[in-house]
Amino acid sequence: MSRSGGEPEERWTGVDRYVTDLLLGADPALDAALEASAAAGLPDIQVSAPYGKMLHLLARAARARRILEIGTLGGYSAIWLARALPADGRLVTCELDPKHAEVARGNLERAGLGDRVEVHVGPALETLRGLASEGAEPFDMVFIDADKPGYPDYLELSLQLSRAGTVIVADNVIRRGDILDGSSGDPNVQAMRRFHERLASEKRISATAVQTVGGKGYDGFVLAVVTE
Ligand code: SAH
Ligand code: DHB
Ligand code: MG
Repeated sequence: MSRSGGEPEERWTGVDRYVTDLLLGADPALDAALEASAAAGLPDIQVSAPYGKMLHLLARAARARRILEIGTLGGYSAIWLARALPADGRLVTCELDPKHAEVARGNLERAGLGDRVEVHVGPALETLRGLASEGAEPFDMVFIDADKPGYPDYLELSLQLSRAGTVIVADNVIRRGDILDGSSGDPNVQAMRRFHERLASEKRISATAVQTVGGKGYDGFVLAVVTE
């Protein structure tokens, strides 16, 4: 198939590749992480390379020293985020599946970031409640990317763990446009509609949502800033 492709998804994949080759360049640590994740049988649902770099750049622009991630998988987005931290910075990342967490720890270690990242195994809601109750220092950035029905609760807890200026990014919020269907029987769609409504009604947050296309199809992300 030619680079420009016939089907829209091939075209989108081609453009991701073009952007990755031109603007991101070769990245053996990320390639190794993807290989190890695939070899361990993890699902191929991490963010794309251009999206990973966007997370990295947002973290740098925010001068983030403490980042919270909800949904680690094999640590691909965690590597992008942790690379934005200063040497004494911290990424706290939450993962339900012990096998995913194990693969992620190996990938982060190999990427030279093991000292900056804590992978917390268990339901993210419990980890976040624990952090909130022990009065954890607020995070400068939060990336929400775990189970979709959890998003409304993750937003609530993220707010508790934020300060004015905290940047919140949430993945998979458009779902091929299915979020328009208020009568959808898909619990992920219903949860995402509640998530958007919660963002809209929350006076302490200013938010937008941006649609994306790529190798994984049509979806999008929320970008929000905590204002008070
Ligand atoms: N952010 C990753 C992809 C995350 S995929 C990346 O881009 O590289 C979503 C992950 O959330 C999966 O690994 C899944 O096991 C995890 N997950 C699902 N439910 C969870 C829960 N309740 N708490 C924490 N993690 C959960
Ligand atoms: C899928 C994609 C994601 O980005 C995610 O966080 C979870 C699942 C998916 O394509 O199934
Ligand atoms: Mg996702």
